[in-house]
Amino acid sequence: MLVSGKEILRDALEKKYAVPAFNFTNMENLQAIIDGAEEMNSPVIIQTTQGAIEYAGFEYLADLGKGAAKRAKVPVALHLDHGTDLEYHLKAIRLGWTSLMIDASKCDFETNVNIVRQVVKIAHVLDISVEAELGVIAGKEDDIESDISIYTEVHDAVKFYNETNCDSLAIAVGTAHGIYKGEVKIDFDRIREIKQEINIPLVLHGSSGVPEDMLGKAVESGINKINFDTELKLANLKAMRKFIEENPNIYDIRKVFKPCRIAMKEVVIKKIKACKSYNKA
Ligand code: G3H
Ligand code: 13P
Ligand code: ZN
Repeated sequence: MLVSGKEILRDALEKKYAVPAFNFTNMENLQAIIDGAEEMNSPVIIQTTQGAIEYAGFEYLADLGKGAAKRAKVPVALHLDHGTDLEYHLKAIRLGWTSLMIDASKCDFETNVNIVRQVVKIAHVLDISVEAELGVIAGKEDDIESDISIYTEVHDAVKFYNETNCDSLAIAVGTAHGIYKGEVKIDFDRIREIKQEINIPLVLHGSSGVPEDMLGKAVESGINKINFDTELKLANLKAMRKFIEENPNIYDIRKVFKPCRIAMKEVVIKKIKACKSYNKA
């Protein structure tokens, strides 16, 4: 069933688990997410970046996402991931997205606050939840790459929350988008300190490649939503390459996609276990 972002994260906050959030771009990708969530009886967030919307088309992704969510036996929220442009937020609201992220983290603090307030003002009238981001998460997002992380300061997070009234907050605590180049380090104390000051759902981005035990520790420290994208993409491609190498004469594309879907579903199940969201639907 399609549910609001507020509802899905409220339960995670109360019961101290994290809702896994997976990016999707096409049908096979989405089916793997929903199948995995149903098998584990887990709530799930399906999310689209502006890049995914550009690739697949806004209306098309809306139909795909809402159709899958409505058929699902578990609660599913449809979320706009890293929305930077107000037009995307407005159109996502009109087309039935149930959760939004406004990412103005590349702006200075005051500009970030002002942009987030604008989106919150519109979204809250319609009871749609808003995730914001404070700090800089390293790595590749769309075509933009940042080598450095600027960790979220506790006092900034408090001030930011008080001034924006956002519903959830993505914080920079050591993870990076895309493929990890070095060892993963997460500042768990920082998560705990921020959570102690503002008891709202905290979001971990760039979570592909983070060992499962560290994800578990992040959840224990106060993370209530964990975003995964790259690991799904990699599993998809790896299965596709293997199948094509082993079956060079196959031209029925459905036969190629089947092992890809299974490989992505395996990633989904592994992440649900780390998020401790199984049997919470
Ligand atoms: O954080 C966002 C994603 O990992 C980048 O996804 O390629 O759909 O923009 P994208
Ligand atoms: P990864 O691609 O590193 O899993 O990050 C996903 C993400 O943060 C989406 O917002
Ligand atoms: Zn992200």
